[in-house]
Amino acid sequence: MKTYLKILTTSTLVTLSTWGAISFAHSEHFTKNTRSAEQSYDFRTATMTVYKWYLSPMGAMVKGKTEFNAKAFAQYADGLATASHLNLMEGFPKDSGEDHVDDSDAKEAIWKNMKDFAAKYESLKNEAKALAKVSKTGDEAAMKAQFKKTAGACTACHKKYKTK
Ligand code: HEC
Repeated sequence: MKTYLKILTTSTLVTLSTWGAISFAHSEHFTKNTRSAEQSYDFRTATMTVYKWYLSPMGAMVKGKTEFNAKAFAQYADGLATASHLNLMEGFPKDSGEDHVDDSDAKEAIWKNMKDFAAKYESLKNEAKALAKVSKTGDEAAMKAQFKKTAGACTACHKKYKTK
């Protein structure tokens, strides 16, 4: 019995320390970002394609191209707020801009002004969160006004840091 317990304890310890090593290796990998510039480009453009997926139909309603539907608008606003939580900054590691990735429109200025660039991402997150919140009220005028601020957060960044 004693021996059995000892074996059990030892094997549990081994299992635990193996697990520890695995999770450590995992977090290492995550923080260090060992992805290639192309993979980072894929991540950020895919994330922004998702932004567009939600922003476009709201824009069409705001411009009057499609009929305003408060319920649908609120769902899109929620989707955008959720998507904006994916950390876009992970997709912009050093040396992944237009000088390094063929198809990229990311200006090298991003890496010279990383603080400002990150602030512009924070601003989008805040505006998208506010849009989701106001959209729960169904107040059309307020929703349209906050939509403009949200789309403005996209434009503010693109104007300075995207080539076309
Ligand atoms: C913090 C800056 C920043 C914010 C905020 C931002 N973008 Fe972008 N976006 C960029 C940059 C830089 C690129 C170019 C990326 C590249 O080509 O490497 C880009 C590219 C894109 C693209 C092109 C993707 C492709 O397939 O080439 C779309 C679409 C897009 N953004 C939509 C949006 C929308 C919609 C929003 C707002 C909801 C938004 N972006 C907010 C910086 C930003």
